[in-house]
Amino acid sequence: MLGSPSLLWLLAVTFSLAPRGQPLGPRDLKEEEKDETPQPPSSAVPCDYDRCRHLQMPCKELQRAGPTPCLCPGLSSPAQPPDPPRLSEVHVVAEVGSAVVHWCAPSSPVHQYWLLLREGDGAPQKGPPLNSTVRKAELKGLKPGGAYVVCVVAANGAGESSVPPAGGEDLEKVGGPALGPCRKLAVPPRPQTLVHVAIGVGAALVLLSCSALVWHFCLRERWGCPRQAASRPTAGL
Ligand SMILES: *[C@@H]1O[C@H](CO)[C@@H](O)[C@H](O)[C@H]1NC(C)=O
Repeated sequence: MLGSPSLLWLLAVTFSLAPRGQPLGPRDLKEEEKDETPQPPSSAVPCDYDRCRHLQMPCKELQRAGPTPCLCPGLSSPAQPPDPPRLSEVHVVAEVGSAVVHWCAPSSPVHQYWLLLREGDGAPQKGPPLNSTVRKAELKGLKPGGAYVVCVVAANGAGESSVPPAGGEDLEKVGGPALGPCRKLAVPPRPQTLVHVAIGVGAALVLLSCSALVWHFCLRERWGCPRQAASRPTAGL
């Protein structure tokens, strides 16, 4: 029984420490958890992440790949469908009936995007899936004079982002600086440049034939043709 006093002492020490030790336990755990998530020092700079940049690597991967820690914008929960992306620029190329659509990522985890194209009151057509780095896509086969609505949809494991209903009033307002995922698209009627080119070529042809006739009937008589013998078996005179 020589060990019992020391055992008692040990027990006493343990119990006297216990009140201090117990609150420490959970706090220690929390601190460990915090240490696992990258906790950049206060001097950390924002990551070189642009939510509107095409082929933008996800910020989490930038953090992982970078030599120094950087800060990422906060994201909504992956257990929720993404917020709608923001459609930024749309360039319509009327000559070939295509449009290039740009958008910006929402502050949500996104697995893929796709475009929805609706002509007039028709049913929306779904474009091919695009990976999460993509921020622009081309629409093809647009009809001259056609009126379309294009929307961009983001999706993750929990679902897809919302799209305003067809003919919604908020879409009507989206004339100027759009903030939503949709945009009205008016393809100009018959490409006017082609008409201009046709008129130009026609005018040039008419001018050319006129000058040829003038040369043939008037000037050649006065000054003579420099290549008379070569190429003119039937003279007009
Ligand atoms: C995503 O798609 C783009 C365009 O199709 C492609 O260039 C890029 O390599 C893809 N990235 C990944 C991670 O699959």
